[in-house]
Amino acid sequence: MKDFFELFINEVKEAYASENHVAKLLPKALKAANSPHLKTAIQEHLKQTEEQIVRLERILTEIKETTAKAICRPMEGLIEEWKNIQKTHYDSDTQDAAIIGFLQKVEHLEIAHYGTLRTYAKHLKLPAFENLFKESAREEGDADRKLTDIAEGSLFRTGVNAKACKKCA
Ligand SMILES: [Fe+2]
Repeated sequence: MKDFFELFINEVKEAYASENHVAKLLPKALKAANSPHLKTAIQEHLKQTEEQIVRLERILTEIKETTAKAICRPMEGLIEEWKNIQKTHYDSDTQDAAIIGFLQKVEHLEIAHYGTLRTYAKHLKLPAFENLFKESAREEGDADRKLTDIAEGSLFRTGVNAKACKKCA
């Protein structure tokens, strides 16, 4: 029978697989994006993603685990959705809106990964790991909020969604 620590290991590996999908996906999203604000946000998150991968590798090394058999089915599903976005010929603003909507689903999956891992690490009394997961969860949350800001705009800037919805009042 597998125990809670093995569940933790599986979750770490799943997060690792997920981040590796994201690291391959973000350069494609960067190329497809039109808004300079969106491009900057994607570039920043790509850097964070690379750091998050290193964090997960450090954790796996410390618990004497490898990255073998690391898979993340939910992220694989999202990657399929990305292929649909790429195949669809949207106008440039609508394409940005679609990219943001897609990336927010990605962020929410990652927030779920790190939220779970943070609480598992707390129960396993692994505070150093708990802090690393907290840091990654914070970065994912910030990235998500930044995407909402780009989509919805501010007092001084029109958001991507309003630009895309040209017939909106
Ligand atoms: Fe991430």
